[in-house]
Amino acid sequence: MSPSTKYRYALAALFTTGALAAPAPQFWPPQWFPQAQAQGQGQGQITTQAPTEAASTSTLSTANFAAATTTPTVATSSTPSSSSSNSNEPSEFTANPSIGGGGTTYTDSARFRIYGATGSSADAALQMLEAAYTCFVTDLGWRSSGLSYNSDADTAATWYKENVYSVSSLDGNAAGVMNSDMSSGYSYVNVVNTYLTDPSVTVHEYGHALTYHVGNWVDQTYTGAWWEPLANWFADTFMTSELCARARAEYGQSAGTSVIELAKVVGDSYQVIVDGSTDTGNYYQAWPLLTYMTNNPDNFTGLGTDAVLQLNRQYEVGSNETPLHTLQRLLGDTPIGSVIGRYWAHMAYVDISEAANEVFLQQRDTLTYGNLESSGSGSYKVKSARQPQYFGANINPLTLEGSGSVSVEVSSDAAFTATMAIRNTDSGVVRYVDLEGGKGEVTVGESEEASLVVVNTPEELIQYNPFELSSEVQVGLDYSVTVTGASF
Ligand SMILES: *[C@@H]1O[C@H](CO)[C@@H](O)[C@H](O)[C@H]1NC(C)=O
Repeated sequence: MSPSTKYRYALAALFTTGALAAPAPQFWPPQWFPQAQAQGQGQGQITTQAPTEAASTSTLSTANFAAATTTPTVATSSTPSSSSSNSNEPSEFTANPSIGGGGTTYTDSARFRIYGATGSSADAALQMLEAAYTCFVTDLGWRSSGLSYNSDADTAATWYKENVYSVSSLDGNAAGVMNSDMSSGYSYVNVVNTYLTDPSVTVHEYGHALTYHVGNWVDQTYTGAWWEPLANWFADTFMTSELCARARAEYGQSAGTSVIELAKVVGDSYQVIVDGSTDTGNYYQAWPLLTYMTNNPDNFTGLGTDAVLQLNRQYEVGSNETPLHTLQRLLGDTPIGSVIGRYWAHMAYVDISEAANEVFLQQRDTLTYGNLESSGSGSYKVKSARQPQYFGANINPLTLEGSGSVSVEVSSDAAFTATMAIRNTDSGVVRYVDLEGGKGEVTVGESEEASLVVVNTPEELIQYNPFELSSEVQVGLDYSVTVTGASF
């Protein structure tokens, strides 16, 4: 029952560079995806491979929909909330069979059309998608999928339903794929029918669609790998966050278990923070950073409920900057290293969300730490294979000698951020102590446990392509630690 083994994705496809339709930019570069295949002219795709096992972590209730109609064309959703920020948004969107090929069998809701499915599974998927729309577009302000990539939200005459195609299989064992019809500027989604009601697949793909409709990340090589953590952030937020609770309730959706994959995001935390390398990368697992930015437990200026939307909106159009550059702009005067340093400190006991914390408490004994080797007399050195790369981290749990004072000194020739995370084992509350210059002393109580978190936080951001890591971002942080009052 380990969620960490249940979701293993790989990215397959993308794009021709031909058949570019106005307005530019209308293609994503072929290097965006290392396994690029020839695709239909003028179309874009993002493929998500199937979970490796049946998606049993989905706790979405389908019982609510058992009595729903089986007539193919009947709308089954309740009326969309009127709290949308788009003043001229209609309550019922118009069908658009030309996007993705259409078909004769379909089931409608107010803002979606599912082709190739009828009955209870179509109805359940539509309720889920209407809930996702309500959470992300109506409540959190993402641009509507009913609006063309090319159109102005204030003047659009027609708002179109998002087409979702329920299919028997997809190339490359994919579970789902987001496509875009570049000339009209609409997205559509294909999902293998066995995953249609699974939010970890269908809301993930719809999250790609919402990313596409914001527009700024399209055609930018260095945002390429970031589409996947973003889509998993959409899925996990939909399933677990209070931010979507109102929308889930409106459409009868139960909250689910977090899709966090701790064996990767914690076990391999030394990797580049978003690493799109084939087979070894972490980009499907890197999304907890986005949840941290959203929940903003440290109250950093510039972060909060709309931080992920702003990461898209404030992206400097056409710049090919990395989202870390955008994040630094959102943060203003706060150095990004302080924020990523704190993010990783929170990953010591995974208190970024209640749902993620639950998974951590179940799995913590199975996770790999083991970053340091002893050089005697309370001194340690990071193992070369575990040196934190660009904005990667080491989480180093301490073995305490009972309660009392623990002093730590981290040294390195390169820039780093070191933090002590100290958890009360009775209450579960974690406190954080910044180690200025790598050095500090903390007093730990009887019911506390502690970890030293060391993060590679260079002063200058690097332009890098997560799909083709440069040697610069792979330089590990070489550091040593001395400790008294505890050991590693
Ligand atoms: C952040 O702000 C909230 C709400 O004001 C407050 O309850 C919380 O203690 C603050 N957290 C920190 C770390 O300052």
